[in-house]
Amino acid sequence: MTDKPKDIADYVVPGRRFFGRRKGPSLSDRKTGLMEDVLPRISVTIPEDKNDSINLDALFGGAKREVWLEIGFGKGEHLAWQAQANPDIGLIGCEPYLNGVAGLVTQVDEQEIKNIRIYADDARHVIWQLPDASVDRVFLIHPDPWPKKRHAPRRFVNPENLDDIARILKDNGEFRVGTDHPIYREWTAIQMSERDDFCWLAEGPDDWLVRPDD
Ligand SMILES: C[S@@+](CC[C@H](N)C(=O)[O-])C[C@H]1O[C@@H](n2cnc3c(N)ncnc32)[C@H](O)[C@@H]1O
Repeated sequence: MTDKPKDIADYVVPGRRFFGRRKGPSLSDRKTGLMEDVLPRISVTIPEDKNDSINLDALFGGAKREVWLEIGFGKGEHLAWQAQANPDIGLIGCEPYLNGVAGLVTQVDEQEIKNIRIYADDARHVIWQLPDASVDRVFLIHPDPWPKKRHAPRRFVNPENLDDIARILKDNGEFRVGTDHPIYREWTAIQMSERDDFCWLAEGPDDWLVRPDD
């Protein structure tokens, strides 16, 4: 027996498969309505041709001072906070877990947030089609830790994704990773230390042990 689906076109190499859950409890009528009415208006569309890039000015209805990307925003509390604190920044949030997406869409609607765009699926689809040097900041906050050794290839911090993040970040752009998981913290430190396209900005333990105000 093999895990391969019958139609080879559906087969995704293991490294590029998405590991995680997409659905939780049923959404309320209100959230279902917002997912139908609001989400399509603020969704990121991925160009069908893999050689085409996402047009960021068109996505935000004009040029933004900076563009920030959050990978796996959960229910979107951090992204909504950043968007309100930085109205001149365009923020893209990616999250495949639909209940989380519904949480952020609700905040966007209730708080009338204008500068968030959402991709309700795997962040890598967006990253692969963002232009080179087009993003100022990438957030990865409490990524799924996948603590078992055999699941380590599923961790978002991995050489392939770091290559892609390096490509889309502008010079002096920032990749901000937050985790309270000791295995993921050590894993991330090792992965980053092996690279010469990122610099470690912390000068002392407080710079990475203490959560920044934002
Ligand atoms: C542990 S949760 C943390 C959520 C949120 N950042 C927080 O701090 O509350 C990790 C999130 O990453 C999302 N995730 C996992 N892989 C992802 C991927 N490839 N692209 C986008 N989101 C992803 C999961 O669906 C999940 O919601």
